[in-house]
Amino acid sequence: AYVIGKDCVDVNDRACMDVCPVDCIYVGDRKSYINPAECIDCGACEVECPVEAIFVDRQARGDEARTRFVADSRDFFQVVLPGRDAPVGAPGGAGKVGEIGVDTPFVSGL
Ligand code: F3S
Ligand code: F3S
Repeated sequence: AYVIGKDCVDVNDRACMDVCPVDCIYVGDRKSYINPAECIDCGACEVECPVEAIFVDRQARGDEARTRFVADSRDFFQVVLPGRDAPVGAPGGAGKVGEIGVDTPFVSGL
């Protein structure tokens, strides 16, 4: 799957969201997150990001900073985020759920 990394933090431009054919990019607070369970690897988002924050998880091998964001992208959907009572899961479209409005503790702490 594709992953949004550190350069999105405090930019959160959202140009990527407009081109995703399966609407699997969800807005947190300081950054956005691609749902690895819903991304179909089309790659359209990667070229849209003005700060080049998006990469493929395969490219993260051996890169500790990127690897951390691969794990964090899973966490965003699978763990209970601060202030929520259930994991986001795979709701099948960011448009349906609106902005999540919170980040993982890892991203909040950056
Ligand atoms: Fe972030 Fe770039 Fe999308 S800054 S919200 S990954 S367009
Ligand atoms: Fe969407 Fe990007 Fe995946 S456009 S399907 S999140 S590669």
